[in-house]
Amino acid sequence: MTESSKFAVIVGSGFPALGGEDGGRRVATRFGDASAPVHTVEIEGHSVLSLARHGDDHSVPPHAINYRANLAALQELGADSVIALNTVGVVSDIRRSGEIAVPDQVLDYTWGRAHTIFDGTDGVVEHIDFTEPFSSTLRTQLLAAASAAGLDCHDGGVYAATQGPRLETAAEVDRLERDGADYIGMTAMPEAAIALELGLQYACLALVVNRAAGRGDTPIHEDVESSTLSARKQAMSVLRQFFKMKR
Ligand code: HPA
Repeated sequence: MTESSKFAVIVGSGFPALGGEDGGRRVATRFGDASAPVHTVEIEGHSVLSLARHGDDHSVPPHAINYRANLAALQELGADSVIALNTVGVVSDIRRSGEIAVPDQVLDYTWGRAHTIFDGTDGVVEHIDFTEPFSSTLRTQLLAAASAAGLDCHDGGVYAATQGPRLETAAEVDRLERDGADYIGMTAMPEAAIALELGLQYACLALVVNRAAGRGDTPIHEDVESSTLSARKQAMSVLRQFFKMKR
């Protein structure tokens, strides 16, 4: 196996935990416990760390996730690059349900989450430059992998992070669209910012599982049910190709 346990995947909703069978490693971090044990999975000959953001039994809602502990746990186990799988609803016509995208910008509407490692408790104050919230290197590699796998994966778009766990009202989606949002999800923030604070490379591979509230004719949960498998398969193909190209 090659050296790449420096890569980690954070797995979100609509995606069974990768490698849930190996028992995993529980890591006590300075921020507390991660959502789940960190598993090690083999993808195309690479040893990759895998963590289920919502817990292996999907019991942790987006606003209660200990994002700091999750990222610190992966870093303590040697990760320096993190591919985040996030399910999203799509606001505009840039994607359809069941497709995938690699967003390049973020709007943050979350509140009350432990959102920084620079919270003043240890006297260190830093203001990261968050102009580009995702690693351009990782984004380029993910898009190259998608293209090599023959997949239509959208390059870019604005990810709006909402608080959840409820979905949005139609009026809220209208407002998000006016703000410039393309996708809506509940987990890429504060994850992306904390990753950068920790010095990790981080990019989001978004699984589009529904039209956002007020946008489609299909009830959202039906849309999610019929679209998740397709998005999940495509995301898995991107991951496999990504690690194939790392040989
Ligand atoms: N809104 C917020 N988060 C989501 C959605 C949505 O429509 N779909 C999947 N995650």
